[in-house]
Amino acid sequence: MTGFNTQLVHGKEIKDNNTGAINMPIYNSSTYQYPKIGDKVRWDYARSGNPTREFLEKQVAQLENGACGFAFASGMAAIHAVFAIFKPGDHILIGQQLYGGTYRLINQYFKLQGITFTTVDTRNLKKVEEAIQDNTKAIYFEPVTNPLLHVTSVKKIAAVAKRHNILTIVDNTFLTPYLQKPLDLGADFVVHSATKYLSGHSDVIAGLVVAKTFALGEKIYFVQNALGGVLSPESANLVRRGIQTLSVRLDRQQQNVAAIISFLQGRREVVQINYPGISGTKDHEIAQHECRGFGGVFSFTLSPAVNASSFVNHLRLLKLAVSLGAVESLVEIPYEMSHAELPPRERINAGITPQLIRCAIGIEDSEDLIADIKSALAAAVIPKNSTVVSLLNSKGTLVNK
Ligand SMILES: Cc1ncc(COP(=O)(O)O)c(C=O)c1O
Repeated sequence: MTGFNTQLVHGKEIKDNNTGAINMPIYNSSTYQYPKIGDKVRWDYARSGNPTREFLEKQVAQLENGACGFAFASGMAAIHAVFAIFKPGDHILIGQQLYGGTYRLINQYFKLQGITFTTVDTRNLKKVEEAIQDNTKAIYFEPVTNPLLHVTSVKKIAAVAKRHNILTIVDNTFLTPYLQKPLDLGADFVVHSATKYLSGHSDVIAGLVVAKTFALGEKIYFVQNALGGVLSPESANLVRRGIQTLSVRLDRQQQNVAAIISFLQGRREVVQINYPGISGTKDHEIAQHECRGFGGVFSFTLSPAVNASSFVNHLRLLKLAVSLGAVESLVEIPYEMSHAELPPRERINAGITPQLIRCAIGIEDSEDLIADIKSALAAAVIPKNSTVVSLLNSKGTLVNK
């Protein structure tokens, strides 16, 4: 068996062309010719199967140590596919801090289909056990949450799930198979927004599902083919190309995160930093055992002496944008941007305050990123003589008086 980096670069060899092309070609044909009536053909219609897409699907299954992979038109389409294998009357446990789009899909779509959901703190195994009902079929969670970077043990949750004969489904967008392999830790499905680290260049929207067994994979294939939310061959090629440099990018991203965090730890404008790589926390303890690294995303809380909006507006290299996982560094205020859909009190109760900043660090020179942050901090400090009282108005917007 080849090593992980070799698997990233080469994928699984598919000898399907006679040109000697080093890379899997982009096959654009929507339909395929039958030699004659009654013949069995490998490819017949591109929604059901496409060689470029299949290259990516086989590769991600290999990287995750799963039986089969499936590529979708977005991360949300992939998440839809795993929930779509359940029936009305089924009950699913979900993690407390999920990506907002996943909450929307659950609350405004799957609940209407007659599937019931219970939110549970997946870091608390007792609470997980207590929430399991006779009709519970699965538990779905993100091992590293956004934007507070809380860590759940995949191993422990999967052990509880196995005892109760329910499936474990993990959204591992933040860590990727380079940093964690949930199926090896006992999960049954892993899903990715391949829009993020796997493609890595902010130029494609894509989603992936990997099933641990062929029997589970058949259920996903049915949804993929029946609903048709497949990834295009062009986008499959972009994800394939991104995957080749996944480990190299993540190594640099993690080095940059470490350098920036050690800079921020010495700053009085910063009151709290959230990153599983920081020792002395339960999150770190779990991540150390189950992950190869801690990822390229971290968040921090600015002291009340700094105007958070002014801070992000003064950044030049770190771009103000949602999303994560690409070669360029991005910054956002979750309270105002990625998590704005949650009611204000829910945001505050969850620890998502207007002073919380989330960074998704890229592969630039860390010295330049630190210089950018340093000058934005200096520009955003509220002058001492101006008395600032921060209040939340009825819409939950921070108002300075
Ligand atoms: C953890 C996580 N899962 C799923 C998604 C949805 O993926 P996509 O935007 O590719 O549909 C996102 C998007 O930000 C995400 O961060």
